[in-house]
Amino acid sequence: MSIITDLTRSWLTRSWKPFTFKNEYDQTLPYSDCENLGLYIHIPFCKSICNFCPYCKVRYDAALCDRYLDALLQEIRMVGSQNAEKKRVTSLYFGGGTPALVASRLKEIINTCREYFEITEGIGLELHPDNVTVDTLQILKDAGVTKISIGIQSFQKKYQHILGRKAVDPATMSAALAAVPFETVSMDFIFALPEQTYEDLKQDIDMAFANGANHIAVYPFIDFTFTKSPVKAMEKKEKRALLDAITQYCLDKGYSRSSIWTFSSEAQAGYSSMTRDNFLGFGCSATTLLKDQFKINTFSVEEYCKRIAAGKLPTSLTIRFTRRQRMVYYLFWTAYSTKVDERDFEKFFGVPLKKMYGFELWLAKLLGFVTEADGVYRMTLKGAFYYHYYENFYTLAYIDKMWGIMRKQAFPECIEL
Ligand SMILES: C[S@@+](CC[C@H](N)C(=O)[O-])C[C@H]1O[C@@H](n2cnc3c(N)ncnc32)[C@H](O)[C@@H]1O
Ligand code: SF4
Repeated sequence: MSIITDLTRSWLTRSWKPFTFKNEYDQTLPYSDCENLGLYIHIPFCKSICNFCPYCKVRYDAALCDRYLDALLQEIRMVGSQNAEKKRVTSLYFGGGTPALVASRLKEIINTCREYFEITEGIGLELHPDNVTVDTLQILKDAGVTKISIGIQSFQKKYQHILGRKAVDPATMSAALAAVPFETVSMDFIFALPEQTYEDLKQDIDMAFANGANHIAVYPFIDFTFTKSPVKAMEKKEKRALLDAITQYCLDKGYSRSSIWTFSSEAQAGYSSMTRDNFLGFGCSATTLLKDQFKINTFSVEEYCKRIAAGKLPTSLTIRFTRRQRMVYYLFWTAYSTKVDERDFEKFFGVPLKKMYGFELWLAKLLGFVTEADGVYRMTLKGAFYYHYYENFYTLAYIDKMWGIMRKQAFPECIEL
C-alpha cells in the first residue's frame, strides 16, 4: 500500500524526497499575507471514548479542561498578537473531541479570537447528539456559532450497537433544532459498515433531512491500526457501489454535492473546516497550513499546557515544503471540494496549473476522472470514487502512521512519510 503512496508522491512532487516532519518550529508564524485563511480550534475532551475514533481526545475532567482552556486562550493571544492589525479570516471551526463540553467558556474563546481576527464567514462547531438540547444550542448561538455538525454515525440500532454509540431520538433532537435554528445543521454518518446496504443509508439520509439537517456528511469507515474497533473495512467493490448509489440518490433528490462526502439541501448550507488555502490551528493536535509550511501541535494535553506556560508555541512537528510538495498539498485539499479552478491555482502559485500538471490533467480527463469547462476541473462520479479510494490509502499510509506516533510521543524527533 505504501508503495502506491510513495510512487504517487514522487511522481507528483517530481522528487524522491519524502515529506519530512521535524521537531522544530517557528515562534512567529508567517500568516500576515495569507489570503483565504481559516481558523481551527481543537477541544480534546469527550464524556466517553468511542473505540473506532482516531482523533486526539481524553476523557473529560473539569479541572484539566479549565487548565487547557486557559492555555488555549494564551496560544491564540501569542499567535494573534504577531499581526499588527486585525487579520481577516474566513471562518472559525471548533472540532474535537466534543467542543460543546466547553459551551460555558465558548464566548470567552470566540471573543479572544475576535480581538485579533475578523471572522467573515461564520463559526462552526461539532456536537455529540447528547449536546443537542435547547439550553446548549442557545448558549452556542449566543456565543456566535452559526453552523453546527452533529455526530450521528447511524440512526439504526444495529450500527449504533456495532459502534458502541447510544440510541439517538430524532424527535427530541428535531424539536431542539427547530427551537434554536442555525444557518447550517449538518449530520455526520459513517458508511461502509459491515453488511450495510443502500436501504440502510437511504433511511439515515432521509431521517437526517426530515429532522432538522440541511447538510449531511457521509464518511467511509476507516479502520485505523491504533484504534480498538472490532469493525472491519468493507471491500472496495461493495464500497464503490454504495458510494455511487448514495451519491446518485442525493443528486436525484436535488441535494447539491458540496464536497466528496457532503450534500446540502439548501444553497447556503455548508460545513467544511478543510478546504481553506491556509489555516491556523490552536489546541492539541491542531494543524496549521501556511504558504511554505505545515505544522502540527502536540497531542499531549499536559505537554501542551507546559509549553504554553513556558511562553512557547506547542508545535510538535513542522514540514517546510518544496514548491511541488506545496502544490500537491494544495491540489489534494482543493480537490476535496470536487473541483479545482486553474485561476485560483495560478493566483496562489504564480504559475499556470497546466504548465505544472498538464500531463496529469490530460490523463485524468482521458480516464474519465475529471471534466473541464472554462478552466474549472470537476470530478466525475468515477473520479470522486478514486479520489476517495486514494484518500483512504493516504489516510492509512500517512495519517495513521503520524497520529499513531504522536499519540505516544509528545515531541517526536522526526517523521518521514
Ligand atoms: C470529532 S467527531 C464528531 C463530534 C462528536 N465527538 C461525536 O462523536 O458525535 C467527528 C466525526 O468523525 C467521524 N469518524 C470518527 N471516527 C471515524 C472512523 N474511524 N472512520 C470514519 N469516520 C470517523 C464521525 O462521523 C464523527 O462524527
Ligand atoms: S467519535 Fe466523538 S465522542 Fe467518540 S471519541 Fe471520537 S470525538 Fe469523542
